[in-house]
Amino acid sequence: MTTTRTTTTASTALPGGTWTLGDLTVTRFGYGAMQLAGPGVTGPPADRDGALAVLREAVRLGITHVDTADAYGPHVTNELIREALHPYPDGLHIVTKVGARRDADGGWPPAREPDDLRRAVHDNLETLGVDTLDLVNLRLGDATGPRPGSLATAYETLVELQRQGLIRHLGLSNATPEQIAEAETIAPFVCVQNLYNLAHRQDDALIDRLAARGVAYVPYFPLGGFTPLQSATLSQVAERHGVRPTAVALAWLLHRSPNILLIPGTSSAAHLRENVAGAGLALREEDLAALDTIGGTRRTPQTP
Ligand SMILES: NC(=O)c1ccc[n+]([C@@H]2O[C@H](COP(=O)([O-])OP(=O)(O)OC[C@H]3O[C@@H](n4cnc5c(N)ncnc54)[C@H](OP(=O)(O)O)[C@@H]3O)[C@@H](O)[C@H]2O)c1
Repeated sequence: MTTTRTTTTASTALPGGTWTLGDLTVTRFGYGAMQLAGPGVTGPPADRDGALAVLREAVRLGITHVDTADAYGPHVTNELIREALHPYPDGLHIVTKVGARRDADGGWPPAREPDDLRRAVHDNLETLGVDTLDLVNLRLGDATGPRPGSLATAYETLVELQRQGLIRHLGLSNATPEQIAEAETIAPFVCVQNLYNLAHRQDDALIDRLAARGVAYVPYFPLGGFTPLQSATLSQVAERHGVRPTAVALAWLLHRSPNILLIPGTSSAAHLRENVAGAGLALREEDLAALDTIGGTRRTPQTP
């Protein structure tokens, strides 16, 4: 393993420019590493060298935001990130999450007791090879989505670990508006990572509220996740521009609100390059009007 630190390339060249998470500047176009693990996000990838190459390509393209979790694999994705990129280039920020573990069937049961969270933070520190985690999301709910219930004990545990210097910034994931409001009474967070894309716009009002407060919204499954986005309207808009539907889906998210950060996943360096190029697509008013019909509801107005 080399010990030479590199710097990331010009980030402003990426579509969307940059956003500041607390004191960390990241490119709005990030990379979601979950798809690098094996099938079902379990075990190693079939093409290990290809997975390492995707991570290096992300950095080469100037991406400075990588999203992961030690539960991916488990351990697999974090270890790939470490192998591909450690010592991490200056300016690269790795965002992880805790709050779920893996069971023998590949399920994602909650693991949010204080001891679970402490162990998960230490596991992430070890597998990523760092002394401090840049940003840790408390992942709430379950595989079906957000679930109601107080986050106080779990969130306070992460705040304690933050005070110990093990975590730089906190975030929430898979959270309800009530849980987000509860967290605000406990300690600051810099992002919310929930399911959102062209077809799932349940968080429209939340995105606007967070934008007004300077908090980032990071949609997971921006391309539909395990069920790729499919819509005749999306295809028509893509055809009008001569691009793939994935480009339109990503460009729409960047356009939707300035606090939206992208973490599309891919196990393919070619798809990664295609997505970076596609997210810069300039959508016209007629495109936006058509795309607004896909989710079944019109979005709320953006905050100025
Ligand atoms: N907080 C949470 O609870 C939570 C839950 C799920 C995910 N996440 C995070 O969100 C990130 C994104 O989610 P995701 O990766 O599951 O879903 P996604 O970004 O919506 O979609 C990824 C899928 O799209 C395909 N894809 C990407 N670019 C493509 C292209 N140009 N052409 C064709 N297919 C393309 C990928 O296949 P190829 O590999 O073939 O490109 C992959 O199957 C994850 O990496 C993870 O970090 C968080």
